[in-house]
Amino acid sequence: MSYNLLKGKKGLIFGALNDKSIAWQVAERAVEEGAEVVLTNTAMAARMGGTAELAEKLNTIFVPADATSVEDLERLIDKTMEHFGGKFDFILHSIGMSPNVRKGRTYDDLDYGFLMKTLDISAISFHKVMQVARKKDALNEWGSIVALSYIAAQRTLYGYNDMADAKALLESIARSFGYIYGREKKIRVNTVSQSPTPTTAGSGVMGLDHLMDFAQRMSPLGNATALDCANYVLTLFSDLTRKVTMQNLFHDGGFSSMGMSRRAMKLYSQSLEKELKEYEEKNMEFLDVKHGK
Ligand SMILES: NC(=O)c1ccc[n+]([C@@H]2O[C@H](COP(=O)([O-])OP(=O)(O)OC[C@H]3O[C@@H](n4cnc5c(N)ncnc54)[C@H](O)[C@@H]3O)[C@@H](O)[C@H]2O)c1
Repeated sequence: MSYNLLKGKKGLIFGALNDKSIAWQVAERAVEEGAEVVLTNTAMAARMGGTAELAEKLNTIFVPADATSVEDLERLIDKTMEHFGGKFDFILHSIGMSPNVRKGRTYDDLDYGFLMKTLDISAISFHKVMQVARKKDALNEWGSIVALSYIAAQRTLYGYNDMADAKALLESIARSFGYIYGREKKIRVNTVSQSPTPTTAGSGVMGLDHLMDFAQRMSPLGNATALDCANYVLTLFSDLTRKVTMQNLFHDGGFSSMGMSRRAMKLYSQSLEKELKEYEEKNMEFLDVKHGK
């Protein structure tokens, strides 16, 4: 269903790799809501995925760019402005990658060269995008910039590795740049902290299936899907959220406010009872003696 929420708006979308990508869903929904978009991703991702096909489907252009390269970003912003015939209104940064995660290096055995790449790709690229956009005066007043984050920025989640550090930096960049962009151009900058989602990047997270099950049991509204996320992001691109800036906004079915839920407790109790029974069976002889049998 369309509400024409983004009628007349124009935006640049990073990170649509395939139809599971959060950015893919945002691009499709943004167009449904009346926006015009330009799509970008790395040249490699374009070969592997379907970014260019999506661009064709959405009747727009695909501009390859590595978001860690300022030169690429300058060319990208120029081409985007050329395509739109001037300034535009929103940017989605939906980029994440950790070579340490990919190569199976645990957090207590990080390769520091890889760590720098994780931070550059997943967080500093957000700064680069905004710095280039600001220098080129690419965005209209009351524009909106959103990047995607995860709760590992605030809480320790087993297996999330150096991406946790990248997300903490990403959220900090949103605040610091949000102040400058807001003060000067009334442009807002926020991060959306999304539920675990079955995408290509998501499946790199250790034990994603089990993590998703845990989050599902803990969240009163259940996990937010990529489409749910897209719908939320659209509200942040719309004129209905003009005074929301420098925030990390949880979009996670309530997970971030929970400590323990009935559904999670039930499973935990069951496995605890099973473990206790196994322990008792294993130590039967010792327990019999202890209880004087
Ligand atoms: N999937 C989840 O569980 C989850 C949860 C919370 C937040 N997020 C965040 O959502 C965002 C999007 O990820 P996704 O889950 O849709 O996965 P995805 O794999 O579909 O998207 C990640 C994108 O990053 C792009 N990318 C990687 N390196 C790049 C570079 N150097 N320059 C430009 N683009 C580059 C990839 O090509 C890909 O399109 C990421 O920031 C991710 O951390 C994901």
